[in-house]
Amino acid sequence: MKYRILILALTLTLLSCKESYTKKHPVTGVIAKQGMVVSARKEASLIGTSILKQGGNVFDAMMATELALAVAYPYAGNLGGGGFMVYRLNSGAIGCLDYREKAPMAATKNMYLDSLGNVIPEKSTLGAMAVGVPGTVAGVFAAHEKFGTLPLETILKPVIDLAKKGVVVTEKQERRIQAKRPSFQKANKDTIVLDANWKVNDTIKYPALANTLQVILEQGKDGFYKGDTAKTLAGFIQDNGGIITEEDLASYEAKWRKPVIFNYDNLKIISMSPPSSGGVCLGQIMGMIASYPLEKYGHNSTKAIQIITEAERRAYADRSYYLGDPDFVDIPQTEILSDSYLKDRMSNFSFKQATPSSTLKHGNVEVVESDETTHYSIVDQYGNAIAVTTTLNGAYGSKLYCSELGFFLNNEMDDFSSKPGTPNMFGLIGAEANSIAPQKRMLSSMTPTIVEKNGEFYMSVGTPGGSTIITCVLQIILNVHDFNMGMQEAVNAPRFHHQWLPDEVLMEPNKFDKKTISALEKKGYHINEKDAPIIGRVDGILKLKDGSYEAGADYRGDDTAIGF
Ligand code: GLY
Repeated sequence: MKYRILILALTLTLLSCKESYTKKHPVTGVIAKQGMVVSARKEASLIGTSILKQGGNVFDAMMATELALAVAYPYAGNLGGGGFMVYRLNSGAIGCLDYREKAPMAATKNMYLDSLGNVIPEKSTLGAMAVGVPGTVAGVFAAHEKFGTLPLETILKPVIDLAKKGVVVTEKQERRIQAKRPSFQKANKDTIVLDANWKVNDTIKYPALANTLQVILEQGKDGFYKGDTAKTLAGFIQDNGGIITEEDLASYEAKWRKPVIFNYDNLKIISMSPPSSGGVCLGQIMGMIASYPLEKYGHNSTKAIQIITEAERRAYADRSYYLGDPDFVDIPQTEILSDSYLKDRMSNFSFKQATPSSTLKHGNVEVVESDETTHYSIVDQYGNAIAVTTTLNGAYGSKLYCSELGFFLNNEMDDFSSKPGTPNMFGLIGAEANSIAPQKRMLSSMTPTIVEKNGEFYMSVGTPGGSTIITCVLQIILNVHDFNMGMQEAVNAPRFHHQWLPDEVLMEPNKFDKKTISALEKKGYHINEKDAPIIGRVDGILKLKDGSYEAGADYRGDDTAIGF
């Protein structure tokens, strides 16, 4: 009897926790019948949706949303960074676009090391030396040129108006700006617009950015990569001790690539290929867990967390060794995604005990890679879908802000492996495949992903979160597919992460069952609930059975879905 009362009390406690959690964060997202934009800021989602309503498609909306994020969300939205886009057309045709930053021509393998061969603190993360050649403007123009339908004027006008009119500071933005002011002062010679005592509900105007966007409207891509803008940008970077030249900017090009495609149960997953590690790593993890009955184990149960953690551990060990820019290194992609290889990788796993990362290296194949990024998903009334992740790398990138042009510059150079075996800002260990070379693209974790079910569009999903991006995307797909959640519920659910090294399971604090945590610790898992107050900020869209779309906009940020 005592035992039954205890169970009843426990169940009631759990139910009331879930209820209060659910009241705070609704489990059903915005529903739309025709088109939808889910992004990190309401202003960007509104502008993107207005483009769709004017007859534009996902690629027109991409240009509008991406550039609106550069205005409304300078934390990660950008002109001075880069990104990746995965698409699926209504015809079923798929593809992906790489507009990742590149190392400048004057970059050298050891540029972040001192005379003793040690990594110089902050050189690859703060200020002009951290900046890679930006790819964003080239990216949105490449997508628009190939698939866009609306004139540039229609797309850019509302973005330019937003920069002139200004953007209202949110509570979360106020906290972020205040936290980064010391870094803004360290990276910049002069006071920048964000380095002020901005408070919630203040409006920040961006007139210099509006001018830069106007030049881009008038001159196209060359309005950024050539002429006066390029001269000003290269001069500014060099004045601050950097090495990017006008020639670096003029020679930058976005690249169409072949996505990584794999099956998981009856789903076809289409994700980003190298130089992002996202698709390959996601494919490896899903391949390693495919034969385990996750639904039976239960969502965020000890067994489910174990199997996912062990697969993540093994995939991230491979990531570090094998992956880099495919234009510079041979990646054994087919081999490391093969069933036999993945089965073999899991052969030493046992539910009895954690596999210590110290005993695990990359696998062998038979042939002679903020944390602060942002993701948006768009579907249009024509049945096209895109998943786009874009970044400055760290929060506000290198913190270096070109006041004359009105934007922050990335610190993406830190995504290279400055010194094999030494962790970058995400704790990721790199190897030779991701070493620095002139014009090489640094390895990424960005994982914009589209999922098909029964040959039809099913999901568009992605997130910021540095090294945790891949495992967030994984958990959303599993939450929907294996654990029968809707998109918003899947996004709300607590997340965890493992990346081989450091050998710890990051968990969002106070969201996991204490008994589960204790069971995992007994098996040798090192649980860390302190260092990741949130893991990712996922934005996604799910096609429902009746053909309408459900958004998942992450409550962890100011993310907003707008649909019609
Ligand atoms: N800068 C984060 C990433 O590309 O993975």
